[in-house]
Amino acid sequence: MLDILVVDDEQEIARALAGFFSIKGYKVRIANDGEAAMELVREHRPHLVFLDIRMPKKDGLSVLREIREFDQTIKVIMVTAFGTKEIVSESMRLGAVDFVRKPFTKAYLEHDVIAKVSVQLFEDLRSEVDQKQGLIEQLGSLNERASRNFYQTILSLATALESRDKYTHGHSERVEVYSKLIAKQLQSSKMADINDQFLENLHIESRLHDIGKIAIPDIVLNKRGKLTAAEHDEIKRHPEESVRILAPLENIKDNIEVIYSHHERYDGTGYPKRKVGNKIPLRARIIAVADAFDAMTSDRPYRDALPDEAAFLELERFKEIQFDPMVVDAFSSAYWKNKKKITRQENCREEVLLKI
Ligand SMILES: [Fe+2]
Ligand SMILES: [Fe+2]
Repeated sequence: MLDILVVDDEQEIARALAGFFSIKGYKVRIANDGEAAMELVREHRPHLVFLDIRMPKKDGLSVLREIREFDQTIKVIMVTAFGTKEIVSESMRLGAVDFVRKPFTKAYLEHDVIAKVSVQLFEDLRSEVDQKQGLIEQLGSLNERASRNFYQTILSLATALESRDKYTHGHSERVEVYSKLIAKQLQSSKMADINDQFLENLHIESRLHDIGKIAIPDIVLNKRGKLTAAEHDEIKRHPEESVRILAPLENIKDNIEVIYSHHERYDGTGYPKRKVGNKIPLRARIIAVADAFDAMTSDRPYRDALPDEAAFLELERFKEIQFDPMVVDAFSSAYWKNKKKITRQENCREEVLLKI
């Protein structure tokens, strides 16, 4: 798991930051002064340090200097309420990688701070996954705890992946909510045999469905214009990359098959295996609809979000072609039934959705 150290003499600020990152799945420690900070740095070598500039006794710049002497690879983000030009340039000269300002609002944490952290930790996350994979391969099979740990890491990775690009921010969470809505509708209308295990599997698969995108070069993934055919092919590799990343996990073999199949199309023209109709696992057919709906109703660099009604028309139009008609019908009735709870509100849409 990725380690973060928060250094601030104002306990409330330190706690707010630490609480936020713990919920996001990071391991967070707190120090309230420079001495305590250096002790924790030596003992735990955190991946990233949030370092307050103005502290009594030893100030942030002195701590930064000591961290640099101790280990060049630890990333340091300075935290400041004022941030004069001189302090900013001195911190950069000493090797700080970025700045955040306090006090922190929820929106600032959710959008700016998490994005800054993800940029800094992305390489660490990647190597963490690689290392864990190596370890797991050696072990052969996983015990429950190691698996859970790995799953947590992968989830952090998914969050980081989405934070790199504001256009996909929250995508997997929304796909999860829509998928759950569909599954529950199929369950209550007895259209499919859906039990708790099915729902638990759907949770894992919807959250991780695009995990393979970490292997796709940033330049393609974040391209702001139309993709060339070659770039399209590059993106289409992501289901295979997901399999590569998740393959060592013995106990999620079934999940991997679903994740691998989320871009198959009902008429057999999808990828990677051109599976047809019910040969595509049901949960993959569900995720395909949820995924397409979220893509259409979110802003993209090249077009604005479609209104819900227009997105449903598209889903209707592609019934039997791209989508399972039973799944589209279930989504449409569940969505409009719950419409009130899903009303889009800037910045807190996810929370509204997650209450369903
Ligand atoms: Fe995908
Ligand atoms: Fe997706």
